Amino acid sequence: MVEERTHKSLWTVSAPARRYPFLQGDLEVDVVVIGGGIAGLTTAYLLKQEGKKVAVVEMHRLLTGQTGQTTAHLTELLDTPYATLASDFGEKGARMAAASTRAAIEQIAGLVDRLRISCGFQRLPGYRYAETEREARELEREATAARQAGLMCALTEEAPLPYPVKLALRVEDQAQFHPREYLLALAEGIQGDGSYVFEETQVTELYEGVPCRVHTPRGVLTCRDVVEATTTPLNRVFLHTKLYAYRTYSVAGRLEGPLEAGLYYDSQDPYHYIRTQRVEGVDYLIVGGEDHKVGSEEDTDRHYEALEEYTRRRFPVTRIEYRWSGQVIEPADGLAYIGRNSNSRHVWVATGFSGTGMTFGTLSGMILTDLIMGRQNPYAALYDATRVKPKAGAKDFIQENAEVAFRFVADRLAKPEAHDLSEVPPGEGRIMEVDGKKVAVFREESGAVHAVSPVCTHVGCYVHWNKGERSWDCPCHGSRFSPTGEVLNGPAVKPLPSKKIR
Ligand SMILES: Cc1cc2nc3c(=O)[nH]c(=O)nc-3n(C[C@H](O)[C@H](O)[C@H](O)COP(=O)(O)OP(=O)(O)OC[C@H]3O[C@@H](n4cnc5c(N)ncnc54)[C@H](O)[C@@H]3O)c2cc1C
Ligand code: FES
Repeated sequence: MVEERTHKSLWTVSAPARRYPFLQGDLEVDVVVIGGGIAGLTTAYLLKQEGKKVAVVEMHRLLTGQTGQTTAHLTELLDTPYATLASDFGEKGARMAAASTRAAIEQIAGLVDRLRISCGFQRLPGYRYAETEREARELEREATAARQAGLMCALTEEAPLPYPVKLALRVEDQAQFHPREYLLALAEGIQGDGSYVFEETQVTELYEGVPCRVHTPRGVLTCRDVVEATTTPLNRVFLHTKLYAYRTYSVAGRLEGPLEAGLYYDSQDPYHYIRTQRVEGVDYLIVGGEDHKVGSEEDTDRHYEALEEYTRRRFPVTRIEYRWSGQVIEPADGLAYIGRNSNSRHVWVATGFSGTGMTFGTLSGMILTDLIMGRQNPYAALYDATRVKPKAGAKDFIQENAEVAFRFVADRLAKPEAHDLSEVPPGEGRIMEVDGKKVAVFREESGAVHAVSPVCTHVGCYVHWNKGERSWDCPCHGSRFSPTGEVLNGPAVKPLPSKKIR
């Protein structure tokens, strides 16, 4: 099998994980949690504390999904401005969004303290800053809305950055941590006493009933409740019309001069997000940004180059040692979807976290634990996964779904990218036409060629080559496949079938 090119994150390298077994045979538990990222592990941990027998089922290794690719800012500054939240969810909704995010940060702080997790959890200020007059005017509006929502924040002309800013919104008591160190400790707490963590076990089908049945190639799990904590829910189409997958990039290098620890965000579109992290006594700077829609660009390497250039130009960093990227899932109306799935009694979802999935993932654990235990949760109504808010984000909803429809047709009609195998360079993938049918062809460095169907096994859009990560990415709902067609990211659960070419 051809390996996906891995740009390793700072977290993966600095906190290696133990291996968990794969499922062997059938098993019965109270709750199956699909997905070993922050949402799945937090939910499973909290449910076990309530006395539930849980099984976490992860198709790769724990924390190799988006949680392994994060930059782990813990912030109340959501991707959707508070002014927009107040207009779409009312002032009470905006206040609840702020309060729930605060509650998630305090949940993490509480667990770090109680379990004595050594993960560098640190409270520090966050700064969203403006560099132009126009950005400054927008920031002033946002400052008013954020204060009304309950954030402890103030405008200042001083941000401790090595370049001038026009204005900054300083928010007190934000936080950062090493996400893998924190979550590996939670995983240790899940395993045992009738609860399990399984790796390398892919869920391929899910049947709701009494009990629910969760199918994997290694056995069937039966349970009362199922939590889909898979970044984007498996194979369900309705919810996917409200979710848009974007790719975002990060780089990290040693700081060669001082920089005050803090969470920093510029106001560009897409914005850059910046923080520091100490690893074995060395201070690193992490810079993220360069977001674009999944599958919309082939030369993804250029986003790393742009980010490196941005970093070197602004900060005392000369050598970039780490680069990595991942997907963020944007919700149609600006807030995560957490709760019971549509038409379900016992299937729960947690998705649409945007760029603040550390807090929304934690909040998912808190909300879903309460709901599965049959308790009220103060934030459950706000994040209700079945909600439809036709006005909020209506423009994006129409545009994004029109683009899915466009892709579905246009990519079928598009000219092939190569007509002959000799036009597929080593280490690259191209869509070719063979005997009147399109195939996705990848050539290894050794010259060996692999051909798979380009038709995404979710709902049939055509995949596109992603040069930076060496994967076939689907522009419609963000499924990703290895060069030889194995599923890397859902919602697809089936591989791209291999094709014979002469
Ligand atoms: C570069 C980058 C920077 C970010 N920065 C921040 C930040 O600073 N602050 C912040 O709050 N958020 C940030 N985010 C967002 C945040 O990291 C994510 O929203 C969050 O990690 C998502 O967690 P999750 O548990 O939902 O998903 P994941 O971590 O992706 O976990 C889902 C898991 O489900 C598994 N899975 C999927 N399908 C199946 C199946 N069929 N069977 C079994 N397992 C399956 C996957 O393999 C995966 O491991 C960032 C994201 C990226 C990519
Ligand atoms: S992810 Fe939905 S069609 Fe590919």
